[in-house]
Amino acid sequence: MKRVLTGIQPSGHITLGNYLGAIKPLLELQNKEDVELLVFIADLHAITVNQDRQQLKKNIRELAALYLACGLDLNKAHMFIQSEVPCHNQLGWVMECNSYIGELERMTQFKDKKQKQTEGVSAGLLTYPPLMAADILLYDTALVPVGEDQKQHLEITRNLAERFNNKYGETFTVPEPYILKTGAKIMSLVEPTKKMSKSDSNPKAFITLLDDINIAKKKIKSAVTDSEGIIKYDVVNKPGISNLLTIYSSLSNISIPNLEIRYKDSNYQNFKEDLANLVAQFLTNIQEKFNYYINDSNLDLVLNSGRDLAYHVASRKIQKVYRKIGLGRY
Ligand code: AMP
Ligand code: TRP
Repeated sequence: MKRVLTGIQPSGHITLGNYLGAIKPLLELQNKEDVELLVFIADLHAITVNQDRQQLKKNIRELAALYLACGLDLNKAHMFIQSEVPCHNQLGWVMECNSYIGELERMTQFKDKKQKQTEGVSAGLLTYPPLMAADILLYDTALVPVGEDQKQHLEITRNLAERFNNKYGETFTVPEPYILKTGAKIMSLVEPTKKMSKSDSNPKAFITLLDDINIAKKKIKSAVTDSEGIIKYDVVNKPGISNLLTIYSSLSNISIPNLEIRYKDSNYQNFKEDLANLVAQFLTNIQEKFNYYINDSNLDLVLNSGRDLAYHVASRKIQKVYRKIGLGRY
């Protein structure tokens, strides 16, 4: 049985980019036979930048309910909160001690986030990838569904696994990223050459899964395009319309070439109108389910049982790792 694992930071509302880049491939894998999913809320990763206590607590719960609203099947999946399984910190430290400062400083996400910090750059921002490697390697994960921006972190995870295996003997499964061809990098609706991000200061740049439906439709209708008026996929010259085609294709599973044919004689206004309706339908469906799960007392039971299973698997791996290194009395 293949183990699939992924995490999302509870650092804001989940965007359409998060859904299409990370949750959709997770659901695709869920439908395959012989897989076990581990899905977690990466709250330890979220505190690499400043978080408000109340907001963080709210975001954690919301993210758990959203995973279920998106269709996570609890017959195949276990969901837990990262900070409730201390093995992540334990292996995180070991991974830090096997990482080089130079390779961590070269990470694109570190370089980007570092620039945005006004009150100093936390050491956690630099050591984020070894913690992420620990998340993955604790569970002998085979596949990690993520968006394009996490490819580099998966690469360093693979390097760390191989480095450890070479030094201490076979210990970790070397994981593969699972990145979709369409939807792995959804762009901002305002600046379509920039990634859609939940921390963007302009809320028009992103759509969250919990956005008011009419506001979400307006965001699509006012998305930046170009003046050519031709619905054609061309990322270099037409990044805005290409991004909307990608969103349309990912949500409808109609290929981009087929959408180009369908809208050959149309204009941007009609195209956006149809996409806005599609997005509205998608969000309505998720929000109805979200409203159910967020008020369901079973949510805590789901998180408890996920935590227990994760701890059971991860603590055995920690013992093995400590023993191989010579730590304590293992
Ligand atoms: P984060 O919001 O940084 O915790 O990201 C959670 C997951 O969503 C990761 O797998 C990211 O690669 C993915 N993701 C974030 N933003 C986007 C985006 N704009 N397009 C596609 N995937 C994304
Ligand atoms: N770094 C990921 C992000 O920002 C979140 C994450 C943390 C993650 N640990 C992970 C994703 C392990 C996949 C697997 O998007």
